[in-house]
Amino acid sequence: MLAEASRAQADTWRARDLAVLWHPCTQMREHPDLLPLFGVARGEGAWLIGHDGSRVLDGISSWWTNLFGHAEPRIAAAIAKQATTLEHVLLAGCSHAPAVELAEQLLQVAPRQPGRAPLAKVFYADNGSAGVEVALKMAFHWFTNRGEHRRTKFVALENGYHGETLGALAVGDIPLYRRIYAPLLTQALFAPSPDAWLAQAGESAEDCAVRAADALAALLERHAGEVCALIMEPLVQCAGGMRMHHPSYLARARALCDAHGVLLIADEIAVGFGRTGTLFACEQAGIAPDLLCLSKGLTGGFLPLAAVLATQAIYDGFLDDSRERAFLHSHSYTGNPLACAAALASLAIFESDEVLARNRETATRMHMLAGGIGALPHVADVRQTGMIVAFELTQNGDRGLPFPPQRRIGLRAHRAALRRGVLLRPLGDVLYWMPPYCIDEEALQRLGEATRAAMIEATDEDATCG
Ligand SMILES: Cc1ncc(COP(=O)(O)O)c(C=O)c1O
Repeated sequence: MLAEASRAQADTWRARDLAVLWHPCTQMREHPDLLPLFGVARGEGAWLIGHDGSRVLDGISSWWTNLFGHAEPRIAAAIAKQATTLEHVLLAGCSHAPAVELAEQLLQVAPRQPGRAPLAKVFYADNGSAGVEVALKMAFHWFTNRGEHRRTKFVALENGYHGETLGALAVGDIPLYRRIYAPLLTQALFAPSPDAWLAQAGESAEDCAVRAADALAALLERHAGEVCALIMEPLVQCAGGMRMHHPSYLARARALCDAHGVLLIADEIAVGFGRTGTLFACEQAGIAPDLLCLSKGLTGGFLPLAAVLATQAIYDGFLDDSRERAFLHSHSYTGNPLACAAALASLAIFESDEVLARNRETATRMHMLAGGIGALPHVADVRQTGMIVAFELTQNGDRGLPFPPQRRIGLRAHRAALRRGVLLRPLGDVLYWMPPYCIDEEALQRLGEATRAAMIEATDEDATCG
């Protein structure tokens, strides 16, 4: 009786939702028949609890935002405390403690490189794409202020992703998101991705990185004096299918940027805050960027906030008597105190809970679970960087034979996993795990079993996508 009542409640919420909401990154026509809509009543650790009481494991940390579990009490308490102290104030001409303290702490933990001046200033925005816009505009404007008016171009990597606003989209290379808006976008230069999946026969991941870096060198040479910045996602191109590359590419890209007087923008919006095994991915190449973009995990997954960290030299380039030479970019909610308080609480958890050490253990367990699944016939690649594991599915487990898009392997896998109590949101034919760091052994087992079953069901020749 109770179960029936809660199922009815879940149905009511679904109907009310579809009557009024337009969901992000969704072909709405697929709801509800092709694509189930999971109404979430509350979150608890790594789990999401539906209106009908069903428990679903968040295998993707809610678009890679959540670090320590849903409704994490310490972060929730910090937000509640801040809400009764100061909920918001504009950050132009005003200041508040959470913004200052967070900036101090971010600069403390930011990647450093021997012989290079550290990141020294923090500019806040309120989501990842906005953070990318800030970094791009800053890079361009900095050169303009220096009188280097020819440096108007950005270099980005093929298969990269930096967000959905027009500036961010212009430096992204995922046709599904970009193609339709192409007439509106500024022209970026794209360098080959160092993606190890693209390795030719006999090439190692490192060889592949060297080949891509040689191509980047040639591109920068061809456009000498025209490029203001290289933007890239260090170690993992997440939206591009969790494609991973050797850290040597990052080291070489840093050196090439220096040689060509080009700024390096590291977009660690998805990979920052412990996802790759170190606090920041740049650390694995021993480099520091000129501009570092952070968001998503910054607040532990509680509130939207972005931070762009810049060097003192970049900051100084905007100091002038002229207002036009200042960086006049702003968003109303820039540096929101609630979001900053959440971020401070999240950083405190890194300190108190030895998160990186625990993640290393969890990553080892994920590796073992993934190994078993890798033996399934359609799995062409299993790759892992820290707390990210991805499975690339092809028709026969061979690199050269992708599934035809109409098979909708990802969509089927999503549905099949959801029925088994796990939220996955495959990227095309790539299934991946990016769970909250608090995931325990029982939940890991569930993740492994549901993924295996979903893969088998999704690749079943006889299954239809209706
Ligand atoms: C690397 C990277 N940069 C930027 C963004 C954009 O962030 P947001 O979705 O908060 O606009 C994303 C989002 O997935 C991302 O993965």
